[in-house]
Amino acid sequence: MAATALDMKALNIPLPPEAKNELVIHTEEDDDRMWVPRGEGVWFRPLMYNVTQGSWVNLTRATREGVIGRHRHPAPVTGYTLDGSWGYLEHEWEARKGTFIYEPAGETHTLIVTPTEGHMLTLFHNFGPLIMVDENGNQTGYEDVFTRIEKVKTHYQSVGLSSDVLDRIIM
Ligand SMILES: [Fe+2]
Repeated sequence: MAATALDMKALNIPLPPEAKNELVIHTEEDDDRMWVPRGEGVWFRPLMYNVTQGSWVNLTRATREGVIGRHRHPAPVTGYTLDGSWGYLEHEWEARKGTFIYEPAGETHTLIVTPTEGHMLTLFHNFGPLIMVDENGNQTGYEDVFTRIEKVKTHYQSVGLSSDVLDRIIM
């Protein structure tokens, strides 16, 4: 049975003092400075950094086709495609507008923007770190919630955005 307005008010129990408030971000108010460059024609827009669980959420935007990068996941990732077309060299499928994907832990793949649309916009939720690898599987880099925060902090300082913009999305 659906809860009535009265029921909801009765359930409005205050949060414990240690708890974070909910996070609500209206990206339609963004300007380009919110998008952190991640290589030629590729940017991400940070939405949430969870430093207690090691997870993060961002939008990834690419305005060109071709290889974005190869990496291995010690933890799962989910993705929802908002626009464009993309996939992994290691898989047959192609993500299009409206495609949801789940990447299991242990998966290694090479992210590409496919020629079908030649661009993409996708919401990714990383549940843990990413290990960048070369074509032989050798590690070339590492990213987790903390290295991402540092990267965003550096970018936001360089474009004159207030540190509050980042601080408020760290949970
Ligand atoms: Fe991935």
